[in-house]
Amino acid sequence: MFKAEPIDVVDKASHYRELADQARGLLADERDRVANAANFASLVYNALPAINWAGFYFYDGKELVVGPFQGQPACVRIALGKGVCGTAATTKQTQVVRDVHEFPGHIACDAASQSEIVVPLFDGEKLIGVWDVDSPNIARFDDEDRVGMEQLASIFVESIRAEHR
Ligand code: SME
Repeated sequence: MFKAEPIDVVDKASHYRELADQARGLLADERDRVANAANFASLVYNALPAINWAGFYFYDGKELVVGPFQGQPACVRIALGKGVCGTAATTKQTQVVRDVHEFPGHIACDAASQSEIVVPLFDGEKLIGVWDVDSPNIARFDDEDRVGMEQLASIFVESIRAEHR
């Protein structure tokens, strides 16, 4: 069971900038989606406080299927429009959920999760999947996290874009 940890919000923006630099370095010389997703999830999971799950769901042409992640085993398939992940994919909007129990249709994978942020991943108009991070703390994610996570997610998307292969 994960213990809720306090978060140091002293300078979240600069922490995200540093993390973005590390992500760029980590993904720079590789184009393989699974390799980059695995290293990216590990980097973010280990760098951010009060996180109990961080990972990807990839779109297989029909639904979202779990990809590389850190944390407890998770639900494998999520239909578009369902849960926080499916909602991020269909609305194309990052979902910042302060209390997962208040989100209609939230899909509980790890009972420890209390709040969640999901960034949709698009290559132009093409849905790639979503980047999902859960916290054992209520209201763990705010607008600075949204900006920071969207920046990080764009570094991942850029690293695997088809035209770079
Ligand atoms: N809570 C998500 C499901 C994925 S897990 O958080 C890892 C959702 O409602 O879509």
